[in-house]
Amino acid sequence: MTALRTAWHPVTFSQELTSAPIAATLLDIPLVIWRDSNGTPHASSDICVHRGTALSGGCVKGDNIMCPYHGWQYDATGTCVHIPQLEDPSRVPPKAKVPAYQCVERNGMVWVALETPRFDIPQIDEITDPNWKWVNCGPYEWNAGSSRQLENFTDFGHFPWVHPGLLGDPDRPVVPDCDVSTTAHVVHYNIVRPEAPNSDEFPIFANADTTAPMRTSRYEIHAPFTLLLRLGWGGIEGMIYFFVSQPIDKDHSRGFLTIGRNYNFDQPASVIRDFEDVIFNQDKVIVESQRPKSVPFDITSELHMKFDGVALAYRKMMTANGFAE
Ligand code: FES
Ligand SMILES: [Fe+2]
Repeated sequence: MTALRTAWHPVTFSQELTSAPIAATLLDIPLVIWRDSNGTPHASSDICVHRGTALSGGCVKGDNIMCPYHGWQYDATGTCVHIPQLEDPSRVPPKAKVPAYQCVERNGMVWVALETPRFDIPQIDEITDPNWKWVNCGPYEWNAGSSRQLENFTDFGHFPWVHPGLLGDPDRPVVPDCDVSTTAHVVHYNIVRPEAPNSDEFPIFANADTTAPMRTSRYEIHAPFTLLLRLGWGGIEGMIYFFVSQPIDKDHSRGFLTIGRNYNFDQPASVIRDFEDVIFNQDKVIVESQRPKSVPFDITSELHMKFDGVALAYRKMMTANGFAE
């Protein structure tokens, strides 16, 4: 998973990171994520160099993170700056440090890159536009690799089978043509497809057609595990789905979903959240059963049909960018 170290990955929603540090695992590396006195987030190894205690069990002291076992303090660069057991606590040996990693806040999430990231995090202008209202859903932790979680989000064929009446219409299972193109590390695709009429339980969509609605979607997949979807039904109402999967390790993932809408501002956020919880739990059962647990990027593996064109383009794009590992 070496190449994945050179990409930004989400580790938490911004609003979940308050004054207390949190633990996150990224590509098998245990991390502590914390905010300094200015609110700026930082990430470092969660393993105290002294006795291996989890720093995430400690607390923030000014601009340092303090280990809960003996109170050693580390600054944002991972350098230990205070050892209270010493006569002079600032006389810290040079070896007293932990690896620190690049950390930024973007689109309502905190992101970490273990090595210099090769690509920027996609910018969503509507996030700060008052005409759009946003809801965070998840994170959805799955016993499956991030590539499986991301590909499931791109899969059109499963809607009538896994989400009948919610996302797909079992009477219209044929997947329409979809135009797919790839530029460097981004796969673009657009589709107009049948969807289920809005359900009574989750009236979250703006599809006025109550019999055979169609949805128009414009997608972008950004390597390795980010998906941006703008959708509508022909009117001015629109939704934006921003989905990113955190690779905990090769076979485990955590999906963060942020959904924006330019309508239905009065509807409680819980309606969308409950809807997505249902959808993701329907998907989880299926995807956790897939073998292998991460996408086999060799395109001679598995059997691709014409309507799997997006998955095929994703696998090729990941391979071309060195992420097929
Ligand atoms: S184990 Fe962290 S200060 Fe001792
Ligand atoms: Fe699904």
